[in-house]
Amino acid sequence: MTIHIGAEPGQIAETVLMPGDPRRAKWAAETFLTDPVLVNETRGMLGYTGTWNGHRVTIQGSGMGMPSLSIYANELIKDFGAKTLIRIGSCGGMQPFVKVRDLIIAMTATTLSTPSSGIFKEINFAPCANWELLDAAVKAASNRDCDTHVGGIYSADVFYDERPDLNEIMTRHGILGVEMEAAELYNLAARHSVRALAILTVSDHLQTHEALPAEDRERSFGEMVEVALEAAFA
Ligand code: ADE
Repeated sequence: MTIHIGAEPGQIAETVLMPGDPRRAKWAAETFLTDPVLVNETRGMLGYTGTWNGHRVTIQGSGMGMPSLSIYANELIKDFGAKTLIRIGSCGGMQPFVKVRDLIIAMTATTLSTPSSGIFKEINFAPCANWELLDAAVKAASNRDCDTHVGGIYSADVFYDERPDLNEIMTRHGILGVEMEAAELYNLAARHSVRALAILTVSDHLQTHEALPAEDRERSFGEMVEVALEAAFA
């Protein structure tokens, strides 16, 4: 048991899927896992452990933003021994060829600042995905009926950004989408020698202002969970 995760020792699997929204953790666990057990409800940040195709998996909410994700990822890795952490979340599309509902598999995550900035100081560390997971996720996604993009994403610190020029600079440099968690997940994975990946559904688009209709959210999220599970145990 840690400050933010009420699970008993051994209740967290080595493989953890991390949606931002705790209710998504509940939905994914009840939809995809066999015999899911609620292992954390501290602060309502739900976490479940069950099995998928015989493999133990935990699905634990991360909350929104890098400071929140950092709390859960730190405790999962350092106190519960998590070895593979896959963020499953949503992002805003930043390129004209990236459409709402598409999948983005994040090779790198550029950011202005993260909870790790105090360590890196003047160094621009390049947070990147684990290659095995990335490769396996691309293969898993290629068997599905969804357009998939692989490349760099932008992990922003604020959702309501007062500096739209930053998004424009990211777009000009080929960044596929914006979210708020992956860069710190990749930093922590590098620091603790564990595997990490972020897989994202495009839920809205910064240029077209299109948004994923509510009725499509569940199906798109489900596809992403399946890709994450297949990649984790490839
Ligand atoms: N997550 C989903 N859409 C987003 C956006 N437009 N900006 C930041 N995070 C997001």
